[in-house]
Amino acid sequence: MDNLLQWRLFPLLTLLASLVVFFYVQNRSKLPEKSCSLLPYQHYWIASKRIVTPQGVISGAVEIQAGKIVSIVKEDQKRPSSKLGHVIDYGEAVVMPGLIDVHVHLDDPGRTEWEGFPSGTKAAAAGGITTLVDMPLNNFPSTVSRETFELKIQSAKERIYVDVGFWGGLVPENAFNKSALEDLLNAGVLGLKSFMCPSGISDFPMTNTSHIKEGLSLLAKYRRPLLVHAEIEQDPISNLGLEDGDDDARSYSTYLKTRPPSWEEAAIRELLTVTKDTRIGGSAAGAHLHIVHLSDSSSSLNLIKEAKNGGDSVTVETCPHYLAFSAEEIQDGDTRFKCSPPIRDAANKEKLWDALLEGHIDMLSSDHSPTLPELKLLDDGDFLRAWGGISSLQFILPVTWSYGKKYGVTLEQLASWWGERPAKLAGQESKGSIAVGNLADVVVWEPEVEFDLDNDYPVYLKHPGISAYMGRKLYGKVSATFVRGNLVYEEGKHASAACGVPILAK
Ligand SMILES: *[C@@H]1O[C@H](CO)[C@@H](O)[C@H](O)[C@H]1NC(C)=O
Ligand SMILES: *[C@@H]1O[C@H](CO)[C@@H](O)[C@H](O)[C@H]1NC(C)=O
Ligand SMILES: [Zn+2]
Repeated sequence: MDNLLQWRLFPLLTLLASLVVFFYVQNRSKLPEKSCSLLPYQHYWIASKRIVTPQGVISGAVEIQAGKIVSIVKEDQKRPSSKLGHVIDYGEAVVMPGLIDVHVHLDDPGRTEWEGFPSGTKAAAAGGITTLVDMPLNNFPSTVSRETFELKIQSAKERIYVDVGFWGGLVPENAFNKSALEDLLNAGVLGLKSFMCPSGISDFPMTNTSHIKEGLSLLAKYRRPLLVHAEIEQDPISNLGLEDGDDDARSYSTYLKTRPPSWEEAAIRELLTVTKDTRIGGSAAGAHLHIVHLSDSSSSLNLIKEAKNGGDSVTVETCPHYLAFSAEEIQDGDTRFKCSPPIRDAANKEKLWDALLEGHIDMLSSDHSPTLPELKLLDDGDFLRAWGGISSLQFILPVTWSYGKKYGVTLEQLASWWGERPAKLAGQESKGSIAVGNLADVVVWEPEVEFDLDNDYPVYLKHPGISAYMGRKLYGKVSATFVRGNLVYEEGKHASAACGVPILAK
């Protein structure tokens, strides 16, 4: 009897014991898995010899508590006492506001095989970007109604490693439907975006001036901006004597000819007939129009300058790829460089830099617009049929810095183009500068460190191979990224939980 009991109970007890151990181990390993931050502190100081503040670069420390910047002390002032919290000393590394990229296509939901929230926001964190504003197209369905916007917010939940806000789409279907647009704006989009030429996405049709007028007058009440892709088709491609399968389709100059600066100029001329109403006392006073990714630095830019001088509420962005590359250096068949408007010649690029440095171009954005490698047609190299869009998100800080070196770009300028100005456009003034009371969105980086963007470099984008920057040598290594006080990225590691916040306008 004794023997029998033992024989029957022993395996049962062993099984029970192993189940207890199993659940204990499971629960234990769950604790670190859920962490929003690679730091165990809520209250700490970031010290550095180079902290970029709106008042200039200082040596000192930034105190962070519960996700906010609560004080900033200069080195010669009272040193933070270790009793007040942990001090992370970054030495000579630059401490700057986390970058805000107001023009990103994350393709989520619906085309997550192109990018998606997790890979896109991990890449952003690794690149020192703490806030993205996602475009309403390239995801499916396009974000043009309250319902489609809710799908996007749902998809972003617990899948974003940095904060993400959203632009809604202004399309012919909703432009004259006030209640539809109000629903979308009340749901929290930060503003609207529209196209003056085909967008390349069938459920995101282009708008005309009447639609833009309607959108702008409604947005005036909400004090949110309208962003416009400013190109109007002038000569259809067929007029250029090009045919599909033509050898010429591999040549960059062929593509360049299909989208001349006159397309941008025509669109901007048209837009500025509408922005006159945004002046004080005008019918759309309070509205703001933002021209996305300007490439033409000649007539188009002059028109914008005139409008600004006249008091129109208008701003303009350009992208790092227009500042880094020129048409002359793009190899035939290298469709990684195809985007619209196109990258123009070297003289145009020089003038874009001048305009940026002189303040006529207000800010930068990535226009990160990835796709499947198959759709880039890298093997064919057909510029006319390849997907137009440049993949760049993770690299915008080192790219702006590296290519800006010869123009004497300063840390303060970087913080303005990538922080303060985009924060203002998106209505997120609690971000974009290292100031007391602001959210603790911070990038720590080493401007002097050089690296090769080769196949060994850790790229978190879904399709690193399609990025126009692969193979380049760049300056500026991102060491750490903080979002709302959470250390979300450090030295090749991300926080285990995706705790970025979907930003909704109120
Ligand atoms: C306007 O949009 C709403 C949905 O928000 C829809 O129910 C209504 O039918 C639309 N009106 C017109 C005239 O299309
Ligand atoms: C814009 O398109 C709408 C149709 O969606 C049309 O009613 C309107 O007249 C057009 N406006 C202009 C300026 O072409
Ligand atoms: Zn875009």
